[in-house]
Amino acid sequence: MARIGVVGAGYVGLTTAACFARLGHEVVCADVEPAKVAALSRAEVGAHEPGLPELVGEGVRGKRLRFVLGNDEALSGVDFVFVCVPTPTGADGAADLVAVHAVLREARDAVRPGCVVVLKSTVPPGTAERVAGVLGREDVGVVSNPEFLREGHAVDDFLRPQRVVVGAAGPSGEEAARRVVGLYEGTGAPAVITGSTSAELVKYASNCFLAMKLSYVNSLAELCERVGADISDVTEGMSLDDRIGAAFLEPGPGWGGSCFPKDTRALLSAAEDARVDFPLLRATIGTNGHQARRVVDLVRSAVGPLRGARLGLLGLTFKAGTDDLRDSPALAVAALLAEEGARLVGYDPCVGRDCGPVRVLASAEEVARDADGLLVLTEWPEFAELDWPALAGAVRRRVIVDTRTLLPVDKVVEAGFHLVTLGRRA
Ligand code: UGA
Repeated sequence: MARIGVVGAGYVGLTTAACFARLGHEVVCADVEPAKVAALSRAEVGAHEPGLPELVGEGVRGKRLRFVLGNDEALSGVDFVFVCVPTPTGADGAADLVAVHAVLREARDAVRPGCVVVLKSTVPPGTAERVAGVLGREDVGVVSNPEFLREGHAVDDFLRPQRVVVGAAGPSGEEAARRVVGLYEGTGAPAVITGSTSAELVKYASNCFLAMKLSYVNSLAELCERVGADISDVTEGMSLDDRIGAAFLEPGPGWGGSCFPKDTRALLSAAEDARVDFPLLRATIGTNGHQARRVVDLVRSAVGPLRGARLGLLGLTFKAGTDDLRDSPALAVAALLAEEGARLVGYDPCVGRDCGPVRVLASAEEVARDADGLLVLTEWPEFAELDWPALAGAVRRRVIVDTRTLLPVDKVVEAGFHLVTLGRRA
């Protein structure tokens, strides 16, 4: 059993803390927000993350998980410090490491000899090596241990990961890396021990590869519409080649969330700093930037002029299974529709307040009332189960643009709707 300090109780830090407590370790999780620390100490979890409230409750009740205000306790008196603070996009597209550096300055004098400082925050290649230098403590190990948690599946991804990647920095890094791998005993995941710069790159490279796959499939869908092919048939045919696989081949309104947009920009910036031309990554980002505009073009073709049209948006979060609106493609589409003068109402099972130009209503049925068109923007499974004849009776015009290829085509068409999906000729 190890004593673990986690700095930052965001979705990564909180998941890390609660899951290490579940694995039997003794965990202190620090944050700078008093209200958050107080709520978490009562086992109240603000974020929508399946299984996380239960795990936090279990850890707090079992006294293996504590929440504290300020970092002192999470730095001193522990064997491992996990740095889980945000690394947002800075002015030049590079990751902003201000929060990481602030923690390290505190850690320099606080951590015990033999402690291992673990960077879990997503940081540019070379950061852990630099940190080891700045920390200047030969008696403290520094490693990079990137997270691969998907929002909405974070607990499962942590407790049953497909891989644990630990990168060693500095002279005592290798031994420290082996100790960090030991913390994940019980998850059964294969471990990869690398240098810290490689580990840092694994994280960016994975997210950027997935983003690239999605931009590729979104362009392919556009081509399918023009030449009269069907993207579902094309991707099904592709996916049977196990070198390609079936995952991340669903076209959509664009990729978003708190990770892909930030990480693609950060890797491009790291490549530029290293004077490496990476046109594929530039095109991945550029293609996604064009996707919201493309959705609006499809809506205009299906609905007609948008000025004054009442449009009902189904789904606002960046994907299903989360309440996260950060960099949501649904909101990018909404902003463009509003620019063209559309009046927007929306429903999302996890959003209860108005979002920019979207007036949020309490149900899909309310959104449908008198609508000139409906748009599915997030793939919430419940949208596939809606009462289509009832909705057909409520709308002013029976037009649906389903950007997630989610709806049951037969039922929707039978109810009299004109259904437009990405990657099929309308
Ligand atoms: C992503 C990665 O999947 C995680 O492995 C990683 O740990 C995490 O970022 C992170 O860096 O912390 P997440 O941001 O939760 O996780 O979202 P994803 O499930 O990967 O979805 C990203 C975007 O791609 C969403 O907007 C989603 O709707 C879109 N998407 C995904 C599609 O449009 N089509 C697909 O087939 C799959």
